[in-house]
Amino acid sequence: MKIGIYGGTFNPPHLGHLAAARTAVDALGLDRLIIIPAAIPPHKQLPQSTPAPEHRLAMVEKMADALLLPETVKVSSLELDRPGKSYTSDTLEEIRAQHPGAELWLLMGTDMFLTLHRWHEPERILELAGVCAFGRTEQDGEELFAPQREHLRKAYPGAKITTITLPGLVDVSSTRLRELLARGEGGEYLPPSIYGYILRNGLYGTRADLKHLDVPELRACSYSMVMEKRVRHIRGTEEEAVRLARRWGADETHARRAGILHDCTKYRTGAEHIAICQRYGVPLDELERTAPKLLHSKTGACIARHVFGEPDEVYEAIFWHTTAKENMTTLEKILYVADYMEPNRAFDGVERLRQLAYRDLDKALLLGVEITVEEMRQRQLPVHSNTLRAQAWLREHGVTTEG
Ligand SMILES: [Fe+2]
Ligand SMILES: [Fe+2]
Repeated sequence: MKIGIYGGTFNPPHLGHLAAARTAVDALGLDRLIIIPAAIPPHKQLPQSTPAPEHRLAMVEKMADALLLPETVKVSSLELDRPGKSYTSDTLEEIRAQHPGAELWLLMGTDMFLTLHRWHEPERILELAGVCAFGRTEQDGEELFAPQREHLRKAYPGAKITTITLPGLVDVSSTRLRELLARGEGGEYLPPSIYGYILRNGLYGTRADLKHLDVPELRACSYSMVMEKRVRHIRGTEEEAVRLARRWGADETHARRAGILHDCTKYRTGAEHIAICQRYGVPLDELERTAPKLLHSKTGACIARHVFGEPDEVYEAIFWHTTAKENMTTLEKILYVADYMEPNRAFDGVERLRQLAYRDLDKALLLGVEITVEEMRQRQLPVHSNTLRAQAWLREHGVTTEG
């Protein structure tokens, strides 16, 4: 087994770190990549705006998730958990003990590589692991690496050293990025989920007013609350909702913002859903009490309204996007249908739903409701009473799925 170890302060983790991790996995053929946020690095003092360790750990977890390689990429808090100064040689020793027989590779940027001989116990480091240095820019090439590589090989015979250049890299240092963030800029250098995490928690001197975010900031905040694998669906729902709003004359901004936020509490635990409902006074029915996962539409609506300041229209659309109900507004219908048939959805009947959505929104809504009822029956799960009421109401008003 080949294990890459990528340590750093990740203060904050940015697109350069992400590219480095991704390239290293491919170039070295790693079976596992362990990302380790450093506690107090021996070689530098952390700058003042450095967030608490739990924030840095959370951001590194988002960086790992953003790589979409859950089997390969793991995060370890072993340096944050260890008291006292944190040395790479100790970390490698610990990983070696956990994975005897594995081939270890220590990943590092240019600056680190060029000072490696001055680290604590370089001989132990090079005995325990190979070193893979990557250039941060195209200019960090051979002429920079070669002398240090020769020096290390001479000083530590048997050292395994390899260098890779990262293709098309976003060139930004963490120092510069922190300056930009404090001025309300720099989001383009960050994976959206990390940018959103920074904004929501007001890290690095950002003072975003969460109740008045622009669209890219709102997306970032939403994505920071879910797993990366869900982002495609959320993006698809946003785009589909906007298209449907244009077709049916609904408010495009409301449709967009409802789409962006509709699943933002999808990964909350049952207890968290219940706590959010209690906090904002949303009553729960019997079914929701026993299956609180059903509650993400209601809790998502609460977060949209109370955290992000969205208006009633957006609140209601998110609130009803899972169950539907009788007598829905156009925006409510749009979000329900968009969520069901956005471009990433694939199931029998989705094409029919897509055609109907642009021809007759009520027919599309009824078809969606009927597919849900049928699916729940097949899986022998109870159908939510509001879904049944939506179905009855549409039928009473002469809606069919024909034509
Ligand atoms: Fe949902
Ligand atoms: Fe959804």
